[in-house]
Amino acid sequence: MPEISSRSPLFAPIKIGAVEIANRFVRAATHEFMADASGGVADRLVLLMGDLAQGEVGLIITGHAYVRPDGIASPRQTAVYDDRFIPALARIPDAVHRTSARIFLQISHSGRQTKAKMIGGLPISPSAVFEPAFGLMPREMSAADVPDIREAFLQAARRARDAGFDGVQVHCAHGYLLSSFLSPHTNRRTDDWGGTTAKRARLAVEIVAGIKEICGRDFPVIAKLNSTDFLPGGLDLEESLEIAGLLEAAGLDALEISGGMTEAGRGSVWEGVRAEKDEGYFVDAAARFKKALRIPVAGLGGNRTLAHMEAIVREGRADLVSMSRPLVREPGLVRAFRLGQTAKSACISCNKCFNPRGLSCGDLRISRHIPNRTIL
Ligand SMILES: Cc1cc2nc3c(=O)[nH]c(=O)nc-3n(C[C@H](O)[C@H](O)[C@H](O)COP(=O)(O)O)c2cc1C
Repeated sequence: MPEISSRSPLFAPIKIGAVEIANRFVRAATHEFMADASGGVADRLVLLMGDLAQGEVGLIITGHAYVRPDGIASPRQTAVYDDRFIPALARIPDAVHRTSARIFLQISHSGRQTKAKMIGGLPISPSAVFEPAFGLMPREMSAADVPDIREAFLQAARRARDAGFDGVQVHCAHGYLLSSFLSPHTNRRTDDWGGTTAKRARLAVEIVAGIKEICGRDFPVIAKLNSTDFLPGGLDLEESLEIAGLLEAAGLDALEISGGMTEAGRGSVWEGVRAEKDEGYFVDAAARFKKALRIPVAGLGGNRTLAHMEAIVREGRADLVSMSRPLVREPGLVRAFRLGQTAKSACISCNKCFNPRGLSCGDLRISRHIPNRTIL
């Protein structure tokens, strides 16, 4: 196969706010389970980020980093809740910026999708709605709690900027705290933070506007948003489009479209994407956002084949294409695409990369026949 960069729309640069991204490939946020016991960035996380950058991913988004101690979702997660984490966090952009790749920190609070044991108390939520997957009744936040959460996100973004990240992604998807504010299923408040769509979106909107204010207009703020919660009475596509409009008006620079919540059973990481027809399972939804917004939109979910991803961008259904699991298996996949070494990810979407001892491809671990290519 010949080298393809000159004729593929996937290798044309694009701007997210003031920042230029060299191509249309995004490494979707992927929890690496690679921090040290207290949430500090450890060597292997820096090495992985360097590998992704050498592998020519245009925009790398880190796994979700927690903005407050009570927002941790699982062990070995990266912390960003205190200035003491900044020097070690800075090692990530330092490694990535040896190439033309750009790196955003995903900032998150787990809300009610965590264990009481993990945070040493009851998880918080906009409303006391039982979480069946974790088997817990969360503590309903008081109105006074909400500005503290906003401040935690703002300070986390400021730390990311001070550490040298090129931008942040605010995690508004998958049932975590900001997602649970957006969802009518989990947000049943009747004060200023719930009720109407605008009130449920208010916290996310104020976080986006606040980050732009304290980090500067040129510091990109993007979001990951559910197109649907896959829950009766949860967030649906039409309401999510309305929320996206509010986020854009608040200064959002780009949007990545996902879906699902833990308790819905149908989460964001679908198993068994093998046939091309199953690829891009949130891309139809992304295309609706692309039509409605002016900012760049990233299409996500089971993207595996170069031709499929080219069609998404060529047809204007999304501006960028995101991948998570394929880049666990092959951090050098984008480079291999550019060089014409492969036309499809070898990822089989088995989800064995969820490894609490450190992100790694489960299929490669168990396979006797490791394909001899692009493993950096
Ligand atoms: C191991 C693993 C960890 C993930 N961690 C995150 C995360 O920290 N933040 C997030 O927004 N999504 C996370 N995701 C979801 C991915 O970003 C992505 O939305 C999903 O895997 C679908 O894309 P894919 O088919 O290319 O894997 C994770 C997925 C996997 C497999």
